[in-house]
Amino acid sequence: MKVVVTAGPTREFLDPVRFLSNPSTGKMGFAVAAEAASRGHEVVLVAGPVSLSTPKGVRRVDVVSARDMLRETRRAAKGADVLVATAAVADWRPATCAKRKLKKAGMKPFIRLVRNPDVLKTVRCPLKVGFAAETGDPVVEAVRKCREKKLAFVVANDVTASGAGFGVDTNRAAFVFADGRAERLPLMSKRTLARRIVVAAERFMATF
Ligand code: CTP
Repeated sequence: MKVVVTAGPTREFLDPVRFLSNPSTGKMGFAVAAEAASRGHEVVLVAGPVSLSTPKGVRRVDVVSARDMLRETRRAAKGADVLVATAAVADWRPATCAKRKLKKAGMKPFIRLVRNPDVLKTVRCPLKVGFAAETGDPVVEAVRKCREKKLAFVVANDVTASGAGFGVDTNRAAFVFADGRAERLPLMSKRTLARRIVVAAERFMATF
């Protein structure tokens, strides 16, 4: 299969020295890319700013903002079979980005934001897999995302649960399908979860 993976956070600059972002480290997406490559698939990894080395056999494209990620993911997805979106894309960006550093004396105590594009929803690909990071039971939200973004399945996790979330090497997730079915998985390493995701995608592709 030709697989595209998005990973990491995005940065949305307000001026040359300030940005909005989130604590994503990219570990889950890099694990999916590594696992897909090791299973013989052709992999493009579209990565936000992270400090991880590129897995063997993976072509990596570095991006900064959500709009960069959309452009590069769209390009990579041409002719691809599977898109796995693990990136923690910033949903909003500052309405303007100043060319020069903003001085606090002249700044207002609020920032006007505008919506960013939804990479996973916008990019066309035969088989799409999303993630749903929630604080609390993620299944209901995951079913909504699965239907709205026309996904094969969503990997849902509660980022506040122990062993899950940003920066850790493990995850406790559930595979959630558009018909409301949920397969709850035990606590496992991100690499093992990555293998489960790639195997599930292989099975889906085999039914096409
Ligand atoms: N996603 C994306 N582009 C965005 C936002 C999200 O590609 N601008 C993808 C993520 O990579 C993930 C999925 O969509 O696979 C769900 O992301 P999440 O932030 O959990 O959900 P949202 O769609 O942003 O919805 P909400 O804010 O309502 O939770």
